[in-house]
Order: sequence, then structure tokens, then C-alpha cells
Amino acid sequence: MGKLTIERENKSYLFEEIISEAELCQRVKELGQQISIDYKGKVPIIIGVLNGSFLFMADLIRNLNIEFEVDFIKISSYGNDLKTSGSVSLIKDISANITGRDIIVVEDIVDSGLSVKYLYKKLSNNNPKSINVITCLKKKTKKDIDQLIKYIGFNISSSFVIGYGLDFEQKYRGLNSIYNLKSHTES
Ligand code: PRP
Repeated sequence: MGKLTIERENKSYLFEEIISEAELCQRVKELGQQISIDYKGKVPIIIGVLNGSFLFMADLIRNLNIEFEVDFIKISSYGNDLKTSGSVSLIKDISANITGRDIIVVEDIVDSGLSVKYLYKKLSNNNPKSINVITCLKKKTKKDIDQLIKYIGFNISSSFVIGYGLDFEQKYRGLNSIYNLKSHTES
């Protein structure tokens, strides 16, 4: 498993790979197969939550053998911080008309669950036929959040993760595997 050190403002952050590229690839394939079975004969609108979900979504849709449409929504809960800000703001709305449609929301990570809760409520206002959420990574959340998430790539306990779409101060999203922050020290 690889290690990665990032130097930022007199601090040194040590990251360790926790999910490899091969593991991600295999799991995304399985999720794609499951969704293709569950949505057989339907044409869902797959809504990616920007920015973090873009790689996961791109890989997921290439593992589907159903018809579908895509759209994107951009929200922010973290900014550049390591911890959630506690509130969600809408930065870019979807453009599709989702009334009466089957919706699949694609997240990179569910952490506090605040974003998923916000999205579920917001999208529900337009009366879609169904809403299901898929997330690549999920931390431990309360039951009311768990109920909103149908498909999970990996359950993780890690404090802060980067790679495969997830950022560290907006960078490192292009890493092919998932890295966990192991420690940080003043340098
Ligand atoms: C991250 C991530 C999720 C959200 C999860 O987004 O992409 O959308 O936080 O956290 P929560 O469950 O505590 O709400 P972020 O605001 O960092 O934006 P980004 O996707 O552009 O990195």
C-alpha cells in the first residue's frame, strides 16, 4: 500500500492508501451490475454531486447496461477545511426536469450526512418518481441518514480521505486510489 506526504503551510501530512485502484474498479463494476438489474426497463436520471463524485460517476455509468440520462448539482459543505462546515450551500442546480422520473444521486462520500439530507429534501420538492443515493465511500452515520442511502461502495472509519475525486484543498482529486490521513506534524 502506498504512502503520500503533502507539505502545506509548515505542516506535513502523511497519507496512506486504504483502497486500491483495483479494489475501486472491482466494486464499481459490482455496483454497476446491481443498478443495471434494479433499474432494468427504467431510464433513470443520474445526478452527480460536484465536485467530488466526477470520477466515481464516470466509472459507474460505464458499467451500466441500461439507458440513462446524466445531470449534475454542485453543493458545498466542506470548503477547504478538513471538517464539514455544518451547513450546505447550493452552488449549481440541476437543469433536468425530474418530476415523475427515477433519480440516482451519486456522491463520492457521505460523512456527516448533511449533504445527502439536503439533496434528498431539495430533489423531493420536484416530485420525482423515486430517489436513490449511491456513494463510493460512507462513514458511520445515524439511522435516518442510513435509510437514504441504497448503494455503498465502501464503509470506512477513516478521518479524512483523498483521491478518486476527493480533494485536499481542491487538489489531489486525480489520485487513482483512496488515501487516508494518517498523521500530521509541524515541519
Ligand atoms: C464533500 C463530498 C460530499 C460531502 C459529504 O463535498 O463531496 O458531497 O462533502 O459530507 P457530509 O456528509 O458531511 O455532508 P465538499 O463540500 O467537500 O465539496 P467537493 O465535492 O467539491 O469536494
